[in-house]
Amino acid sequence: MKKKRRIFAAAAWTAISLCAASAADDWVSRAKWIGYDDGKSVVPPEAPSRANKKEERFYLQAVYLRKDFQAGSVAKAILRVTAEGEMVPFLNGKRVATEYFTPGWTEYPTRLYFREYDVTAEVRAGANTLGVILGDGWFRGNLALFGQNHYGKVIRARMELEIEGKDGTKSWVDTDGTWRASTGPILRGDHLSGETYDARLEMPGWCMPGFNAGNWRPVNVGGAAFEPKTIERHPGPPIKIYTEIPAKMLSEPVPGVYIFDLGQNFAGFARLKVDEPAGTAVTLKFGEILNASETVYTDNLMSAYATDVFISQGGPQTWEPLFTYHGFRYVEVRGLTHKPGLTAITGIAIGSELKRTGGFACSDSLINWIYNALIWSQRSNYMEVPTDCPQRDERLGWCGDAQLVCRSALYNFDTRAFLKKWIIDIYDEQSPDGLFQKTAPCICNAGWAPGWADAGIIVPYELWRMTGDISVLRGRYAGMKKFLELSDKAMRKFLGPPRLSDEADWLFMGLCMPFTLVFIAYYAHDLDLMARMAEALGEKVEAGGYRSQFAEVKTAFRDRFVGACNTPDPWTPKWIGADSMTGYALSLSFSLLDSNECVWASERLAQIATGERDQMTGILGTREILPALADTGHREAAYKLLQRRTCPSFGWMADHGGTTLWEHWNGVMEPGRATNWKGKDNENLWDPGMNSFNHESFGSCVQWFYEGILGIAPEEPGFRKVRIRPMPGGGLTFAKGHYDSVRGRIAVEWHHEAGKFTLAVLLPPDTPATVYLPDGSVRAISGKGHFECAFN
Ligand code: BGC
Repeated sequence: MKKKRRIFAAAAWTAISLCAASAADDWVSRAKWIGYDDGKSVVPPEAPSRANKKEERFYLQAVYLRKDFQAGSVAKAILRVTAEGEMVPFLNGKRVATEYFTPGWTEYPTRLYFREYDVTAEVRAGANTLGVILGDGWFRGNLALFGQNHYGKVIRARMELEIEGKDGTKSWVDTDGTWRASTGPILRGDHLSGETYDARLEMPGWCMPGFNAGNWRPVNVGGAAFEPKTIERHPGPPIKIYTEIPAKMLSEPVPGVYIFDLGQNFAGFARLKVDEPAGTAVTLKFGEILNASETVYTDNLMSAYATDVFISQGGPQTWEPLFTYHGFRYVEVRGLTHKPGLTAITGIAIGSELKRTGGFACSDSLINWIYNALIWSQRSNYMEVPTDCPQRDERLGWCGDAQLVCRSALYNFDTRAFLKKWIIDIYDEQSPDGLFQKTAPCICNAGWAPGWADAGIIVPYELWRMTGDISVLRGRYAGMKKFLELSDKAMRKFLGPPRLSDEADWLFMGLCMPFTLVFIAYYAHDLDLMARMAEALGEKVEAGGYRSQFAEVKTAFRDRFVGACNTPDPWTPKWIGADSMTGYALSLSFSLLDSNECVWASERLAQIATGERDQMTGILGTREILPALADTGHREAAYKLLQRRTCPSFGWMADHGGTTLWEHWNGVMEPGRATNWKGKDNENLWDPGMNSFNHESFGSCVQWFYEGILGIAPEEPGFRKVRIRPMPGGGLTFAKGHYDSVRGRIAVEWHHEAGKFTLAVLLPPDTPATVYLPDGSVRAISGKGHFECAFN
């Protein structure tokens, strides 16, 4: 790229360089890493503590960077930004985009993303100012329970404004040594810890032409923690505000301590409106439930301090943070000099920008509750990566949770770009021998977890199944093969004595299950999916190979786990997998049994599901159990389990104040007591910190609302052909819903009363469907159809 000379050179204004042409990706070589390393460190008013580990953390002030420049007449202006850290770009006093945590989270040394904005309307002929506020983010801030500085100790920004003049010339404003730096009102900004903002330190007009930056300092140029291997455009959606939630109730359980109830658990932050004397420090603490004393319960946040502090400059002010988010329903406000009104706090819900693609409602209020609770939990946890929870010091892209929920997620929202981006994260973390990690990005390599590692196979498969986009598979096929080769070797090893592990079916209640069973069941399932993907990719011979491997693994599974077995270990199965619900559910759902076995296994499963009320599946079994029952003639048992209200059940969550799905079936046992335990004898208490009230993982059952209750499913990938097989039951008098597939809307509405079943179906153009009615009749349709049959 040939650079032309500098043209403007006014005193306060540095010139910008001109050139005849530019390719967007060249910008990285022009712009330099800049930052400011002389900010002061600030300790939050209370040191965060973890039950077993007390430590102090030091926060550096957010960094403000600015540059004045001149522009001629502008035909087009594009701003490109990235950071090691996270950034909020400004142009001429205005925030460029209301997005959060830019440029997102990746395995930074391997891959860093940039965002690109069209700012043509914002750049004026004449004087302009480009600026950025730079914070810690995932890069330098607290990351899960591993503390600060995970990726690096210094933060840097890299930006370029490319301007195309009306005369056809191009010019750039790049980050370089001509920029100036300062600290400002943001004393602390951290995802887990919160934000401290001292409004007395505001610098009005700091990103406007004419601002006196006389006491700003030179920037540090270079010195980034590392140079990532790739810097490329972000392929996924940005994090944005999707709704504002007004406070519903205000109480004062202790004089001067105000509790705002927003009525909904979610991820985001609070907007604060106050009118306080200068220097008043207002503290905001966030929590999901209340203590018995009506103050905010924070034991389940672990070391996440989750506290914002606003220091007033005097007079009426409105403030919201830039560099933090919390998982909460309640905000505890302290430090005000007078009683606030309800409007002093507004909840601001943020998450990756996702369009709704599905809808569901039926006559059963509990089933509707489960559906809506997942919508909120998914919104709260699709935050750049699919996190487990938004409140405690974890918030990681746990692969098990996400692979389990991804089909439900794909029905609910357009998650195509989000999941494609996350698949890149999964594959960036694949080990050289083929293993997929438990979390992506992976910040602590914790070994092999069946059901978690398999996300590398299952998530691309689900994306292809729902969208028909074969490109998702093409680039990943070699990586998948490698993982299956490693699984084959591991299978031989795991076929020794079974290990007992919580992760076998994380968060089960009642009977545990051998780890080996989950490993082999998932390995078989992966082979089954791989055979279908190989076929679709035209790899017919390999597809055949995977089918025979599936048959072999299925035999090994049946030999080891099905029926009476004489091995001496205590986890010898009585029938299947220690007689746990998940053992049956996985075997049935992954087609690991022969037809006779299916009959008795499903009967036994229905018996446990409806009879043994202290048992419940963990996260792996919860996705499989409803189809496993319903597809083997036990539809009423599936409904009964779903509609259960005693603990453990979804009904228990709904009846005990849940507005999102909980991590534990028994997260709250009595109001104000977030007790939870494993097993029926109240033994083995969980750490109270490990008790999230906003986990999406149990929401995997929602795929059955679409595919079972409504009966919408792809008969061919991408819904080229549709299957409609509604499953009335559970006393439901109606169910209706839709899915906006890549081909258009598929809608179903059925009514079931007095032995009569009526069904209306609407299909996209050129999309045939097979309709299976509950009386056993089958019809082929296209366009739309109305059906009636007798059914009890
Ligand atoms: C997370 C889970 C995750 C599990 C696996 C937990 O701490 O919250 O959602 O799947 O760990 O070990």
